Amino acid sequence: MFEDLPLLPSDPILGLSVAYREDPNPDKVDLGVGVYRNEAGATPIMAAVAAAEQERLRAETSKAYTFPAGYPGANEVVNELLLGAGHSALRADRVRSIQTPGGCGALRVAAELITRARPKARVWVSTPSWANHVPLLGGAGLTLEEYPYYDYESHSLDFESMLSVLTRVPAGDVVLFHASCHNPSGADLSPEQWRQLTDLALERNFVPLIDSAYQGLGEGLEEDAFGPRLMAERLPEVIVASSFSKNFGLYRERAGALTLVSANTEQALACHSQLLSVTRGLYSMPPAHGSAIVDIILHSPELTRLWSDELAQMRARIQGLRQALVATLANHLPERDFSFIARERGMFSFLGLSEAQVARLRTDYSIYMTANSRINVAGLSDDKMDYVGRAIAQAVSTD
Ligand code: LMR
Repeated sequence: MFEDLPLLPSDPILGLSVAYREDPNPDKVDLGVGVYRNEAGATPIMAAVAAAEQERLRAETSKAYTFPAGYPGANEVVNELLLGAGHSALRADRVRSIQTPGGCGALRVAAELITRARPKARVWVSTPSWANHVPLLGGAGLTLEEYPYYDYESHSLDFESMLSVLTRVPAGDVVLFHASCHNPSGADLSPEQWRQLTDLALERNFVPLIDSAYQGLGEGLEEDAFGPRLMAERLPEVIVASSFSKNFGLYRERAGALTLVSANTEQALACHSQLLSVTRGLYSMPPAHGSAIVDIILHSPELTRLWSDELAQMRARIQGLRQALVATLANHLPERDFSFIARERGMFSFLGLSEAQVARLRTDYSIYMTANSRINVAGLSDDKMDYVGRAIAQAVSTD
């Protein structure tokens, strides 16, 4: 049966971690997969998460099934984290969330639901976008279309081109946005641009699907939710896929949520029932541990404070690394302007290198990044900064 299945290349992002781990060079630097690291290069368990985990171990008395939508209390706090307590859509009782296996699970369930509701709907995805959006959404049978987003020449968001394509999106199609910390470019939409896109969604009657994988790692917990909050207030239908991998550091626990904002309570209930039917057919119910930790933290004012302080420190560290990288590159490669890196947000930025230069950085210096020269800024550290800056300058000038 399986003899005709060919050997596939490794995943363009996850495969980098494997190659990095096998590299014996003591100077190696992992700027590949989007995982937060501290100055020592480790991804420690956040103190709030460790405390919540202790609490869970103490309080959990059974491993019986939880609920198909995950812990009901967790869904409430997740709604408030995303939309803000007292949001008009929450007051109108038109929001329902389910917990999912990570943000990936949320995106796939969203795609399955869209397929059920409107099999011919197309999903418009930014160019570039996170590589895994294509299999997650396309794998459910949806057709993907592209809209321009990032201008590689000016290293900035190309909002005019984006608008010119999105003004032609037919009613009933879906447009995928990144709530903050655009992956892979780090170039985010401003509040004014979110307003224009919300007006456009109303006018064109397309449905936004918002990937919120980095809430709190860009400008702040509230600021990074500006787009989802505005769209949920003004539009009848919005879909949001949240990940708790990065902002709670729960990567391996696969914790995420899918939030549906519907036109009214009746539709919210119908959509919720459809979501549960989709997940029952895919994986029955979500994993419990990661969501339970999120639940415990967000229900405790003390742990929420601790968590958001830790998150603020992570955010500040990334911003500091961005500025340090710009300064280091200005030193080693003064003829090239990398100042855009300090203006971008979240874990990722494009260096603007060719594939050959990226390959050289890997073979000659054991510096790992995706082939399009996306770097995970959080993989840098002060002690590796000069090595990386010097290597990039050498890789660029040997062309
Ligand atoms: C990334 O883009 O590196 C992260 O979102 C991890 C992943 O699963 O690709």
